[in-house]
Amino acid sequence: MFNKNVYIERRKKLTERVSSGVILFLGNTDVPMNYTDNPYRFRQDSNFLYYFGLDEPDLAGVIDVDSNDEILFGNNRDVDDVIWMGPDLTITEKANAVGVPSAMPYNELSSYLSQAVESGRKVHFLPPYRAETKIELERLLGIRADKVVKFVSQSLSKAVVAQRSIKHEEEIEEIEKALEISYEMYSVAMKKIQPGLLERQLYGELEGITLAMGNGISFPVILSIHGETLHNHHHENVMGEGDIVVLDSGAESEMHYASDITRTIPVSGKFTEKQKEIYNIVLKAQTESIEMMKPGVQYREIHLHAAKVIAEGFKDIGLMKGDIEDAVLSGAHALFFPHGLGHMMGLDVHDMEGLGENLVGYNSEVERSKQFGLAYLRFAKTLKPGHVITVEPGIYFIPQLIEKWKNENMLTDFINYDKVEEYREFGGIRIEDDVLVTPEGHRVLGKRPIPKTIEDVEEACSGK
Ligand code: GLY
Ligand code: MN
Ligand code: MN
Repeated sequence: MFNKNVYIERRKKLTERVSSGVILFLGNTDVPMNYTDNPYRFRQDSNFLYYFGLDEPDLAGVIDVDSNDEILFGNNRDVDDVIWMGPDLTITEKANAVGVPSAMPYNELSSYLSQAVESGRKVHFLPPYRAETKIELERLLGIRADKVVKFVSQSLSKAVVAQRSIKHEEEIEEIEKALEISYEMYSVAMKKIQPGLLERQLYGELEGITLAMGNGISFPVILSIHGETLHNHHHENVMGEGDIVVLDSGAESEMHYASDITRTIPVSGKFTEKQKEIYNIVLKAQTESIEMMKPGVQYREIHLHAAKVIAEGFKDIGLMKGDIEDAVLSGAHALFFPHGLGHMMGLDVHDMEGLGENLVGYNSEVERSKQFGLAYLRFAKTLKPGHVITVEPGIYFIPQLIEKWKNENMLTDFINYDKVEEYREFGGIRIEDDVLVTPEGHRVLGKRPIPKTIEDVEEACSGK
């Protein structure tokens, strides 16, 4: 964990943004995989980690905004626990480690909160995303589990989003540690990818790297020769000559900060001319988007610029036609680029989306579009120093979507469906980096750049 002062300062800052009441942070519990004693790998709640730093199950943190009291609730291990799990710090020692002045047994949390409720005080809590947390909130606060989300504190959610959106130096260092793991993953992938390799062989090896060097994956690895499926978690194909592999993956640093990188890799080690043409359009969209990143620019505008680069590139090769501004305004490019340009990243790979995607990515200045494609832009706000955002344009030929649009004569002024037919089996290409907005502009994160141009990817592939 970080130095205790980091957590003390974070909690202090939070209380300045919440006017009164009691703030409750429930940590996560172990979740059974197939029977109670056989849990999934434990992942702490990111908000609990952010304010209380302790990476273990069955803890809760409380901040009394009015009195400035802070209490960690949790249990000491008894000898029966020690037999199975080994010795551990006491709950008081754990509280001290993160600068929390008081500690109490977990079973006192219920009466502590009841007293607050009975005296008419507001208990602030964040949106629960696990069933176990909803049930615990029902037990602690007497709100039915299926109604708990209605009682979530909007003021706390907003305060947390405002605070966590701006990354501090120690957080950037952690993200760059996660990116070192990504560097290793992509070095291995570019060396190993070749005709005959099973997707699952590489998938297993890459996940192993994330565990060997950090705290595992930051989201399930996307690895497929069918990159046209945006989040393809099927890894049963054999890589063949001429295929391209979309590898979208991320690792967690030991402190659980994420990386999120995509590269598209030719199985034969060289791209075909047709692949190069599409690849360079995606690359242009990505690099120009990154170049635009600086404080004061709306990310929605950058997304629309990427869409324009893709539409222009497609007009040049005959897949699209007509006026490019109008094509993008009408959403025609979304047949090939149906997702958003990027999202915030931090302790969560899609940072804080558990608190509400719109709360993170939109505000009174910028409202979410309802148009297919633009509607999926997760983050649209004006950039500020300290934001960490992914930049991940892509081009995909999704046969079922092409079929649907073609049958419905969708946007025929802008799409040349006859030419699109020639690309039906093309697959997909995506390129993604993680970018910090700095006071002067931006910095692509990662101490060692991961090969990205056609020349650099082919060279890395040739080191087999
Ligand atoms: N989790 C996939 C992506 O956002 O890149
Ligand atoms: Mn990704
Ligand atoms: Mn991403």
